[in-house]
Amino acid sequence: MRDLDEFTVTDETLSQMANTPNPRFKEIADAAVRHLHAFARDVNLTPEEWIQGIQFMTAVGQACTPLRQEFILLSDVLGLSAVVNALHDKKARELGSQSSLLGPFFREGVELTPAGTQIVEKPTVPEIVVYGKVTGNDGAPIPNALVQVWQTSERGHYDLQERNGESMDMRGTFLTDADGNYHFRTVRPLGYSIPMDGPVGAMVFAQKRHGMRPSHIHCLIGAEGHRELVTALYFGDDPYIDSDTVFGVSESLVVDSKEDPNSPIPGLRAVHYDFRLAKAAPGESGRVGADPTKLMKAAE
Ligand code: BEZ
Ligand code: FE
Repeated sequence: MRDLDEFTVTDETLSQMANTPNPRFKEIADAAVRHLHAFARDVNLTPEEWIQGIQFMTAVGQACTPLRQEFILLSDVLGLSAVVNALHDKKARELGSQSSLLGPFFREGVELTPAGTQIVEKPTVPEIVVYGKVTGNDGAPIPNALVQVWQTSERGHYDLQERNGESMDMRGTFLTDADGNYHFRTVRPLGYSIPMDGPVGAMVFAQKRHGMRPSHIHCLIGAEGHRELVTALYFGDDPYIDSDTVFGVSESLVVDSKEDPNSPIPGLRAVHYDFRLAKAAPGESGRVGADPTKLMKAAE
């Protein structure tokens, strides 16, 4: 274990970690060491660049607050969250609706309201209705599925940004009826820039990226015996629909609001989307993310 060079130090590190009792932790830590060492050799990492990297990660941690998760944002803009989502979808025992990013603006504890409730406190643009069915993969309706939705305002801000987390808006929690139907009123959200005033934003600027997400409504859907679905509906005519900074858009999640004779609220333009939930493996969740407040508490 003396006279190590940039190659042999990798084997030596792995051998010191060889007795890790938890096999999954060992697999992940071993791979992290192998890839990190290979990365440093690949780019011939200098001491200045290494310390810059450490400073960057320190700044990412320092930017985290109960209302802001800069590490999730970093994972998102590097495409890592999209990779984890895709891997997770591949494991589904049956095919359900496609998933998308939970993002850093999810909040728990939004009160349950009756179907048809307007989720925006003071809409200043025409209302729309979002409706559809929640079914299993066999098409059988799922009654009492919990449908949680959250979105930006018509100005492109989440409540955490407009109200500093002091009260909730543009969020709703609903239960499907006996036929698996849900519907709620909202307004069309505006596409928005991811938070660019922190270290992740500085990186995105340095890469000459626009930092925008196309207009979307987040949906988190859960039902007994089914895999929780984290997804979002994306408005197809948004200028950023094909260049989402965090790689969340899939063709099957693209929607449009239109006049619709079947709309549960006649007179309002409607977005119609049916969600399919896959059967659950025990203890399985589709969340690639968490309420930032909870992450902060867990870290204390
Ligand atoms: C969001 O959709 O809320 C989001 C996702 C990733 C980064 C920033 C925002
Ligand atoms: Fe979002």
